[in-house]
Amino acid sequence: MPRKEMVLITGGAGFIGSHTADALKKRGFRVRILDSLAPPVHNGKWPNYVRGKGFELICGDVRNRKDWEKALRGVNYVYHLAAYQDQRPDFSKFFHTNTVGTALLYEVIVEKKLPVKKIVTASTQFVYGDGMYRCPHNGRLFFPELRSERQFKSKKFDILCPHGRPAEFTPFKEEQQLTPTNSYGLSKEAIENLSLRFGKTYGIPTTLLRYSIVQGPRQSPRNLYSGALRIFVTQALAENPITVYEDGNELRDFVNIKDVVAANLLVLKNKKTDFQIYNVGGGKAYRVLDFAKLVQKMTGTTSMIKIGGFRRTDTRNAVSDVSKLKKLGWRPKFTTTDSVADYVGWYKENFLK
Ligand SMILES: NC(=O)c1ccc[n+]([C@@H]2O[C@H](COP(=O)([O-])OP(=O)(O)OC[C@H]3O[C@@H](n4cnc5c(N)ncnc54)[C@H](O)[C@@H]3O)[C@@H](O)[C@H]2O)c1
Repeated sequence: MPRKEMVLITGGAGFIGSHTADALKKRGFRVRILDSLAPPVHNGKWPNYVRGKGFELICGDVRNRKDWEKALRGVNYVYHLAAYQDQRPDFSKFFHTNTVGTALLYEVIVEKKLPVKKIVTASTQFVYGDGMYRCPHNGRLFFPELRSERQFKSKKFDILCPHGRPAEFTPFKEEQQLTPTNSYGLSKEAIENLSLRFGKTYGIPTTLLRYSIVQGPRQSPRNLYSGALRIFVTQALAENPITVYEDGNELRDFVNIKDVVAANLLVLKNKKTDFQIYNVGGGKAYRVLDFAKLVQKMTGTTSMIKIGGFRRTDTRNAVSDVSKLKKLGWRPKFTTTDSVADYVGWYKENFLK
């Protein structure tokens, strides 16, 4: 019988990586995970949802060449998901972990002439920053600068056109100019560039997936970057106010983890996806206030919604156009209601018992 193919997942102890590992195992792959088990989420321990499942577990760091050499031995495919995330001011750590870590992946493969058939790397909607808007005055498209402190303080949250009028947001498309607003987005833009360049130059098929906000079980409450679902649900279940920034009219798109795993698996062996970038989103724009109301309703909380406050590097609207991925036959099948229900169930089971 031929030996099963081996997939390496970096960051496989995390949210997206662990679900991807389960799905790959079901499809008959051998799975190896490289993860640094960094605090505050793991604190050096493998989470119970990856233990005892027959995965090969390597505790190591993508910033360390020796760990890559060990992890890449005998590997046919790589999902590169390990990353430093958030909007923190330690700018250089984003580039060390995300960008240098990814460069090392290609460096080791090229140097050791490893027969890796495909690399699928996680990018993010954050590479678009605020994206592209249309001026209502003359219809011209433009890429706005970050909103000023003054604008936030005067509670005029909409992106304004050069004529000072609220401009129209256009959903993110893969081919548009990128204007990331923080170190996380900048480091991921650099990953995209180097992955495509080295992949093409050295003949290593590579696909980049720009995930929108991914939702589902295993998003650790200790992970401060896990977004509105974690924040709103933990606030609601503790009967604390649900805090919504700005005026609550900002738009987001949320995608269920099962749809993300389906996208991850779809691109693995599809040659059409080599050297391509795809948005992976929920296909629907949600007002953050409506999302908070959904959490309020589904948790049955008595918590009120408290609107106010802002973070200067937040984008006003972030919604991805997923038509390119849909052309491959993929569709978002699960709703935001499904994601909230799954997350609340998992949270109660693991943290409130
Ligand atoms: N979850 C989302 O909404 C979302 C959205 C867009 C992009 N992404 C991207 O998807 C990928 C996976 O995200 P996630 O939500 O599963 O995150 P996660 O935090 O749950 O998992 C990331 C894992 O990477 C590990 N890790 C961190 N630094 C490491 C290092 N230096 N070496 C080895 N391992 C390290 C962590 O220990 C963690 O287990 C990331 O690249 C992230 O940027 C996620």
